[in-house]
Amino acid sequence: MTPETSKSETLFEFASQYLVAGVSGSARLNAALGRPVYLTHGDGCRLYDVDGRTYLDYNLSHGASFLGHNHPGVRKAIQQALDMGVICAYETEHHSQVAETLCRLVPCAEQVRFANSGSEATFAALRVARAVTGRAKILKFEGHFHGLHDAVVWNAHGPARETFPTYPYVPPQVESAGVPPALADLVLVIPWNDPAAIRQALREHGDELAAVICEPVNYNSGCIPPAPGLLELLRAETAQRGICLIFDEVLSAFRMAPGGAQAYYGVTPDLCTLAKAVANGLPLAVVAGKREFMQVLSPQGPAAHSGTYSGHLFAILAARAALHDIAQPGFYDRIAATADRLYRGLTALFAAHGVPARVQGLGARFGIYFGVTHEVQAYQDAARIDGELGYRFIRACFARGVYFHNYGKLALGHHGFSAAHTPADIDETLTRVEDALKTMGKG
Ligand SMILES: Cc1ncc(COP(=O)(O)O)c(C=O)c1O
Repeated sequence: MTPETSKSETLFEFASQYLVAGVSGSARLNAALGRPVYLTHGDGCRLYDVDGRTYLDYNLSHGASFLGHNHPGVRKAIQQALDMGVICAYETEHHSQVAETLCRLVPCAEQVRFANSGSEATFAALRVARAVTGRAKILKFEGHFHGLHDAVVWNAHGPARETFPTYPYVPPQVESAGVPPALADLVLVIPWNDPAAIRQALREHGDELAAVICEPVNYNSGCIPPAPGLLELLRAETAQRGICLIFDEVLSAFRMAPGGAQAYYGVTPDLCTLAKAVANGLPLAVVAGKREFMQVLSPQGPAAHSGTYSGHLFAILAARAALHDIAQPGFYDRIAATADRLYRGLTALFAAHGVPARVQGLGARFGIYFGVTHEVQAYQDAARIDGELGYRFIRACFARGVYFHNYGKLALGHHGFSAAHTPADIDETLTRVEDALKTMGKG
């Protein structure tokens, strides 16, 4: 180790020999830094790395640590699970209590099934939709990410396109090797926030579709909320054609309301998927929905789903603690006030320092579009960001103790704050970001 080599760099070098690419999941790599961060611990809204540096965290475990790191209620929950003997693959009274709470909070939830990851939840939700409808195809939206399994690993991060001769259908573009090309026949992709595209696609293909799946707020492209009336249109068009409407709320759930985006916008899908914030950093995902859909799941019905770790007790008890906090009066007033302080503050700083960037946020998650100054309503606007400017911003912030994650230039990514960020933390962030902007210049 030379004097200039940080402990993080040394660890990355070592990890690269034994872990593929040095990481345990491809998204761990911060593309702007060219390496992952190596932590000793997290606490509240802060991360502490092996080099003794502290960061205000705006990634929050890809959105999972919505209440902040080291949350006292979650620690207590883990202690309780330890005291119960590290049992898993058994039911306890806590499982059904958490399910009942979710059914109370989330409008479409009449019954739930637990799973381990967001990908597993969207996989199961699509299986339910196919089992109920007896149809095979699904419709998804350009720029919407639903995990990495074969059915959905299409058109989440594609490049900007210059022409669109196939309108309203975006040619299916698979985003992984190893997916059978024949599966392209099972997916239709159309642009988000385009009512005409939705009407045409459902008119032409409605009777072949098992499901329409969307992120009700497209946070995976930064933050692109639905245009007024869009979710209502999706609801009406799918109901009319017997298509299962799935809101993938893995990222949006609990960010702006206890009932997620479906409660916030007042549009109830047939099924939804939840994960990340639901257990504040422990691996829990949920498929929730109307009873008539959920009942096709095994062993009640013919659609197979189970798992040794499904509804792991650690995660269930953590979810109970997290949902308790989220449901407290005034919780979302504080989230809205923090959002306002942060998003206005960042916007003002970019303007003052001549850095072309647009901040779009809803509730506790937001996107920053570098090189874009108008409102982003479509993935194609988002895909035109200045990725290099974004990298420079993230590196400058990192040097000043503010952590933003980057998933790669065309993976626009998403940022967020936690309920543990106080007004003073936001103000400290803005001071540090201002310092960062001064050094990175205009280009
Ligand atoms: C909307 C959405 N769906 C699904 C997933 C996949 O979740 P997981 O990483 O838990 O498999 C993600 C992950 O970021 C997501 O944002």
